[in-house]
Amino acid sequence: MTGHPTERLRLRLNEQPVEIDIDQRALLVEVVRDLGAKGARIGCLTGDCGACSVELDGRIAKSCLVLAASVDGSEIVTIEGSRDAIAEATREAFKAHRGFQCGYCTSGMIMVAIDFLRRNPNPTEAEIRLAISGNLCRCTGYEDIVKAIAGAAAQLQRVSIGNSKRKE
Ligand code: FES
Ligand code: FES
Repeated sequence: MTGHPTERLRLRLNEQPVEIDIDQRALLVEVVRDLGAKGARIGCLTGDCGACSVELDGRIAKSCLVLAASVDGSEIVTIEGSRDAIAEATREAFKAHRGFQCGYCTSGMIMVAIDFLRRNPNPTEAEIRLAISGNLCRCTGYEDIVKAIAGAAAQLQRVSIGNSKRKE
């Protein structure tokens, strides 16, 4: 017991309903990690690094900037629950292009890349660089991350063209 006021929180995390009592001061990143979604990483806790990026009601969010008590009733998706075709292509592209070294930034980078590719399936390099400008990586120099996201976009385009041809 911390002695601090608690609050009952109900949300869906990676498609699972969750109901827990939380410290009213808890950050969303702390709560999702306590619930086992360790892919949301704690980096700066000031909104600068993006390591804590999650999907919150369909939009990307830095979960260290969100009070968990403020998202009662929300739908949260972390890297563990992001499993659609864009997510799978992005994961594979990060592996193929070696878009990580220590890996600390990687889940946040991938979550941001997934959100970006949903909105912009055919991006330019400049658009990719802008999309990840809120995420910091201390290891890679970003080049291989940019290549990975471009590679995921190219793969998704190939699949989309293949699907269109099959329907013709
Ligand atoms: S831990 Fe949230 S932005 Fe760095
Ligand atoms: S791979 Fe180490 S911080 Fe990005």
